[in-house]
Amino acid sequence: MNVYVAPAEMRTAVLSARTGNRTVGFVPTMGALHAGHLSLVDAARAECDVVAASIFVNPTQFAPHEDLDAYPRPLERDLQLLQEHGCDLVFTPSAEMMYPAGAETSIDVGAVALPWEGAERPTHFAGVATVVMKLFQIAPATHAYFGHKDYQQTLVVRRMVADLNVPIEIRVCPIVRDDNGLALSSRNAYLSPDERQQALALSQALRLAEQAHASGQRSAAALRQIIRDHLAAAGLSPDYVAIVADGTVQEVEHIGGPVVAALAVRVGQTRLIDNCRIG
Ligand code: PAJ
Repeated sequence: MNVYVAPAEMRTAVLSARTGNRTVGFVPTMGALHAGHLSLVDAARAECDVVAASIFVNPTQFAPHEDLDAYPRPLERDLQLLQEHGCDLVFTPSAEMMYPAGAETSIDVGAVALPWEGAERPTHFAGVATVVMKLFQIAPATHAYFGHKDYQQTLVVRRMVADLNVPIEIRVCPIVRDDNGLALSSRNAYLSPDERQQALALSQALRLAEQAHASGQRSAAALRQIIRDHLAAAGLSPDYVAIVADGTVQEVEHIGGPVVAALAVRVGQTRLIDNCRIG
């Protein structure tokens, strides 16, 4: 496995990996890798000839009051995990290399970035879109892998790739959960044992909505209420609970096709998101 810190060197490595029509699967991350991230590496390994990943805690997607400095950075462990999962090329730049003095351009992806995470953190998705676009230039892969865990992020990336004619195939992989249902997240590390217990209500609430749908419930308002009631019973009040047409952030009232139930909840000081596809 080769590790690069300079953008130009990573780009040369990815371009030379593509010779002879070989495919390169790219997995962008902020590190502190867990089984969710590694499932993306595994998916890339299964589909592509060469696997590339990046580890970069992107400052521009954090709001001023957020956890940028506290964000975990266990680099040696991350590199070992990437190697164990068959990653070939890793990009681990410094913030100065990604954003040299004078950098000003930023990508605004429009409506899909406005609600939910975008409302909570207004500059977040411009930060995500811009860094993902930069990473796609530095690692010009054939395929890129993202997790459904960050559903809105996948819509932002797809929108940007379509609108800016970026020649890369976007793959979205299922949410990896621990045995009791909690969606894996680097931020779970901030939860106290009690908060971790409380956080189980997120996936449980989504499961209850899924079960109600399976029993014939087609009212989005009813599903939202089921989710809110279960969170309230656990002492949690969500930032948002939404039922949207799959692949959009458009709320539906009657459920006539596949939808995504999405929510964000603050558990103690930690903001957690989760979602599930229904139908
Ligand atoms: P990060 O939070 O490190 O996540 C990297 C990728 O792992 C994202 O595509 C995310 O959706 C996926 N992921 C996280 N938890 C997952 C889980 N439990 N199951 C499946 N996939 C999971 O998302 C980012 O970094 C950044 O915004 C980034 C795209 C790297 C841009 O800075």
